Amino acid sequence: MKIVAVTANPEPNSLTNAAGNALLDGSAEGGAQTELIDLCAEGFNPVFGMEDREHYLGKGPMPEDVMAMQSRIRDADVLALVFPIYWYTMPAIMKGFLDRVICRGFAYNTDGTPGVFAGKTIRLIMLSGGGEDWYRSSGIGQALDNQLREQTFIKYCQAADVSFTYLDNLSSGDDDPEARRAADRHLVSLALMGRELAMDGKSASRS
Ligand SMILES: Cc1cc2nc3c(=O)[nH]c(=O)nc-3n(C[C@H](O)[C@H](O)[C@H](O)COP(=O)(O)O)c2cc1C
Repeated sequence: MKIVAVTANPEPNSLTNAAGNALLDGSAEGGAQTELIDLCAEGFNPVFGMEDREHYLGKGPMPEDVMAMQSRIRDADVLALVFPIYWYTMPAIMKGFLDRVICRGFAYNTDGTPGVFAGKTIRLIMLSGGGEDWYRSSGIGQALDNQLREQTFIKYCQAADVSFTYLDNLSSGDDDPEARRAADRHLVSLALMGRELAMDGKSASRS
């Protein structure tokens, strides 16, 4: 059982990265093998360039940096994307991760044959200044749910289990210790989520 968390925040001590680590700590406690991909710390290039386009069109190989990323998530049973909401959607570096890494010939195929996430579990963990209630009632939550959960991961990638978790009502700069203490409940529930995912994976592999 392998659980990979991908995070997008320039501050290594941010709540975003703490959230990714909390999920993985719980997963490790539940017996899973874990890996953190901190896109900003790793200097991931999010720009879909000519090499990506050539590959998309079937005219060139997968770019090397994309292949290196794919080799780390290919055998994950659970992939968690952990990001703060910027302007009602994901930060550019996470969008670039989708554009470049979750791509044709890896995550899905034009002939309909399943990609690497078929039957897998995806968790979308979003940190927001606004409240979850507001997201659920304003249309923005439905838009994100449709775009990311329904269309990207269920329809295209054929993932089996995809869900959203909001870590809401946060102020930017929650890396400040006092704000972090106020947000601790989120980290505790993410650790529990990780533990449960790992335990579910263990019982599924036994049955
Ligand atoms: C550029 C930028 C745009 C933001 N846009 C939104 C937004 O559209 N909706 C929202 O609820 N919060 C928004 N926020 C607030 C962050 O999502 C929130 O503070 C989050 O906790 C930041 O994560 P961090 O503390 O790990 O940096 C924005 C913050 C920044 C820096």
